[in-house]
Amino acid sequence: MSTPDPLPHHIAIIMDGNGRWALRQGRPRTDGHEAGSDALKRTIESALRHGIPLLTVYAFSSENWRRPRSEVRKLLELFLRALNREVRELNENGVRIRFVGNRSAFNPALRDGMLRAEKQTADNQALLLNVAVNYGGHDDIARAARHLAAAVERGELSSSQIDIERFGAELALGKLPAPDLFIRTGGERRLSNFLPWELAYTELYFTDVLWPDFGVEHFEAALADFANRERRFGGLGQVRHA
Ligand code: FPP
Repeated sequence: MSTPDPLPHHIAIIMDGNGRWALRQGRPRTDGHEAGSDALKRTIESALRHGIPLLTVYAFSSENWRRPRSEVRKLLELFLRALNREVRELNENGVRIRFVGNRSAFNPALRDGMLRAEKQTADNQALLLNVAVNYGGHDDIARAARHLAAAVERGELSSSQIDIERFGAELALGKLPAPDLFIRTGGERRLSNFLPWELAYTELYFTDVLWPDFGVEHFEAALADFANRERRFGGLGQVRHA
């Protein structure tokens, strides 16, 4: 297959459908998360092959704490295991890992693992992988507003200086460019509080494929679909008007 053109610079992904994938096979939901981590690995490799420099994935939402304690525990154990297992190879492939979200709720071993992975890969340049953990978009916006309001209260900032750029820079993704393409697997057609500010002009792509089944061919299909979109950012683009 030829390389789709243009390619997105930044892709955001909701990796949904792990639980259903497992249940359909009569297996525990956590097996779905295990298979989901393989799908993530494949996707990172595909992104690297295409030279896509930014990937942001939703690994654990602030709402995921509502799941049964045993699933949450196993999911967090999987994160730690996956970190220990994969970081070396990711590092060799030039992947920089960054965690976004409120990690203070996680156990010390996981927090240490995250910090270690971030430090170990900090200088890598091929691909920046943002892993959203205990992240919620509304929370992120409220936190940014509080932070800026506090700076105004201290007299360090005037309210008239708060513009889109300044506000966006306070959010978890900081000054990174917004995602060009959003992919959600698993059939639901919603954003689920994932990057609500950043996805304002992003091209949205939904597929019924369950995340553990998401393979290179599905990633390529999403890229091809993106290449055929006309992005107008509120302007008229190529549309002709009298
Ligand atoms: C949604 O599927 C998926 C999650 C809540 C967890 C995502 C985690 C992974 C893909 C594991 C790999 C990640 C890392 C960082 C190693 P679901 O459980 O909501 O599926 P369902 O909608 O079928 O129930």
